[in-house]
Amino acid sequence: MEFNDYEEYVITIIMAAGKGTRMNSAKSKLVHKIYGKELVKRVVELAQKIGSDEIVAVVGHLREQVQEVLGDSVKYAYQDELLGTGHAVMQAKKYLKGKKGKVVILYGDVPIIRPETLKNLINKSIKNKEYATLLTAKYENPTGYGRIIRDEGGNIKAIVEEKDADPLQKKIKEINSGIYCFDIEELLNALEKVNNNNSQGEYYLTDVIKIMNDEGLKTGAVIVEDNTEILGVNDRSQLELLTRVLRMRINSEHMRNGVTIEDSNSTYIYDDVEIGMDTVIHPNTIIKNNVIIGENCEIGPNSYIRENCNIANKVKVGSFVELKKVTVGDGTKIPHLSYLGDCEIGKNGNVGCGTITCNYDGKNKNKTIIGDNAFIGSNVNLVAPVALGDDVLIAAGSTITDDVETGKMGIARERQTNKDRKKK
Ligand code: UD1
Ligand code: CA
Repeated sequence: MEFNDYEEYVITIIMAAGKGTRMNSAKSKLVHKIYGKELVKRVVELAQKIGSDEIVAVVGHLREQVQEVLGDSVKYAYQDELLGTGHAVMQAKKYLKGKKGKVVILYGDVPIIRPETLKNLINKSIKNKEYATLLTAKYENPTGYGRIIRDEGGNIKAIVEEKDADPLQKKIKEINSGIYCFDIEELLNALEKVNNNNSQGEYYLTDVIKIMNDEGLKTGAVIVEDNTEILGVNDRSQLELLTRVLRMRINSEHMRNGVTIEDSNSTYIYDDVEIGMDTVIHPNTIIKNNVIIGENCEIGPNSYIRENCNIANKVKVGSFVELKKVTVGDGTKIPHLSYLGDCEIGKNGNVGCGTITCNYDGKNKNKTIIGDNAFIGSNVNLVAPVALGDDVLIAAGSTITDDVETGKMGIARERQTNKDRKKK
């Protein structure tokens, strides 16, 4: 968890009790994944990144699945009946009571907000001494969302839900994202006054804005600049949409940092990947979590770099190469059609086409260690555990089961014999 640099205590509540019927799934919507990570886990990580002192998830529907993913990374509140967003927050009352500071409301199915956006929301709320600070957005088509009611001076007055809005209010294009930063004590006070006299018979969290205004408590808003941040997941099309948005965002960031990506549409770079300057990523390449790639590398096309790889500078990982848990030294080339797993290879090596590490014996994953300046011929099988020293040469087509010492050539294949061809 990052250092909390706010002047106030910050509790984040994650709403995670909803049903998610439109996913058409036996699984909770919140445990579906974007880039290999559950939606709700993404939101918890977001809450951690913004420096929350405490994180509470309000769980209900299929709570076991959510709790299995989150474990003890958060505290839990339980909502058995979905009686509205205000009711959901009330279930976390015991964590809020008696505390001073801010409470941030997030949703388990709204996973790609930028941490900076939330930090900005919290900081503005603290600086302006606002009791409620809303994250709002301007939508060309605001249908379905709560509308932001402001007075002539532009001050926030209330939020009106679509289903309760009059025709004039329905024309308002500023919408409520559902994400807020509240003063803890005044939120609890206001929630006590929320009733369910509305078209949906729910306890609306949104009602606290009017209640606070009626009491003369200052409220405000931050308008989000990039509307894609507040997108939520209700069905599998939206799951795909958010994956795409995140992909483009991650790729753009790498490009800003000096990485060439030939085709962003076919390049999938997961979270927590570092890529050095002037590295070129060719099309159809997948780079998974916790991978570090140095400068001036060539990756792809059609490469698959899986978790926990560390690739140095001027390395070539060419077409149809799969790497998993691999460390590669400077200048080494793995130009085509290889699988290296659980492997360390040093500097200035060349791994011939079709070479594979046989790292799995059916029970355990075993390591292959290769020194510097190795020349591995084509179609070599390295049966792990196995170690190759520096300056080794492995003859093409060899199946290497024994270690090869520094400076040696390893050859392990049948000698060729040419026989008379049978006549037909
Ligand atoms: C809510 C806001 C609306 C805003 C919109 C943004 C209210 C009353 N309205 O509307 O102003 O524009 O979000 O998407 O807050 N949930 C629970 N328990 C409940 C009810 C809801 O956990 O009892 C969760 C849902 O699973 C969902 C979220 O809270 O993740 C929003 O609930 P929903 O009732 O769908 O609110 P909206 O109608 O989307
Ligand atoms: Ca082979």
